[in-house]
Amino acid sequence: MEAPESVIRPPSSNNGAKGSRRQLYVIGGIASFMFMLFVILPQQYAWMTNEMEVHQPVNHNLTHHHEIIETVPVTIVCQLSGEMGNNLGKLGRCMSLKWWLESGAFYNSTNKLGYSARVALRHQQHNKWVRGAQDLQRCFPNTNQFDFSEANNNEFADIWKMQHQLLGGDERVEANSPFHEINSIDEKEIVSGLQSFVSEASKHHAMVYNAASKRNVSLPFLFSAQFQNLPLEDRFHEEIRQFFRFNESSCCKVMADPDENVFHYRNFKKEMPKRWNSYGFTKLIHSKQLICLDTKGR
Ligand SMILES: *[C@@H]1O[C@H](CO)[C@@H](O)[C@H](O)[C@H]1NC(C)=O
Ligand SMILES: *[C@@H]1O[C@H](CO)[C@@H](O)[C@H](O)[C@H]1NC(C)=O
Ligand SMILES: *[C@@H]1O[C@H](CO)[C@@H](O)[C@H](O)[C@H]1NC(C)=O
Ligand SMILES: *[C@@H]1O[C@H](CO)[C@@H](O)[C@H](O)[C@H]1NC(C)=O
Repeated sequence: MEAPESVIRPPSSNNGAKGSRRQLYVIGGIASFMFMLFVILPQQYAWMTNEMEVHQPVNHNLTHHHEIIETVPVTIVCQLSGEMGNNLGKLGRCMSLKWWLESGAFYNSTNKLGYSARVALRHQQHNKWVRGAQDLQRCFPNTNQFDFSEANNNEFADIWKMQHQLLGGDERVEANSPFHEINSIDEKEIVSGLQSFVSEASKHHAMVYNAASKRNVSLPFLFSAQFQNLPLEDRFHEEIRQFFRFNESSCCKVMADPDENVFHYRNFKKEMPKRWNSYGFTKLIHSKQLICLDTKGR
């Protein structure tokens, strides 16, 4: 194992970052919804029911930490997309990968290495990333630590190429990357991706300086481009709740933005069994309970 002493400067070139691929907005929407459902809503609810709630101990298995003889800094490059909800899902997964690497779960008694992981963000090419980043930083103060453009520069494209030359994958940024199993929905595959990553990092490791963003990226690095999934969500639920602490006073507004829609759902059929149909309410979904929309904005 070589200690991470060397800083490599990538050769400069004119290769720009490739345009981001079309994102699966529906999946993103579902991911955001799940995120709201399992993380943010319970958090808000906990605040309402018990302000003095004591957080449960975290899942980290730190059994072997005292035996670690060296901690290797590694970078998780995190590809974002869409607006606040999508960003939450993507960042949630990157943070989960970070906590997993740092947990000691990948401790190996042969090399006795530990890992400290840093998340480096790469925003999408569409300019709505600006709005997504602003909303995220306004609502979740812990996201203020990030430079959302850290990996959006030619220097990062060069670092990507260096990894491609060492370990294969695709030479185009955002295309197939080494250790891509970490983007799986299957927990076993994620473990196998992380396992091959730490195995590679314990054999060859360097810090590459990105002069554009003035930060080091580890070689090898991980490239995470997927939304959070339930196994990771369950495993790091407490950490996620703490990290995505919600700033109610700066996030909850009385007025919606001009491009936002506010839906107010009410079960008028049950509340007003005689007159619900005479007010011009529009039928949206017919299921066991009828959901009606008040078209007059009431
Ligand atoms: C922690 O990891 C060690 C070694 O892998 C294992 O023996 C132990 O059961 C784990 N503890 C918990 C609480 O998971
Ligand atoms: C531990 O790391 C060494 C070299 O770094 C590797 O050869 C070995 O397979 C690893 N052991 C496990 C159980 O992953
Ligand atoms: C980059 O890594 C080198 C070697 O570990 C270190 O000396 C330097 O301070 C780091 N620079 C930044 C900006 O983190
Ligand atoms: C939450 O937002 C308010 C209003 O913008 C701000 O004054 C406060 O410092 C924020 N709190 C945190 C923890 O960032």
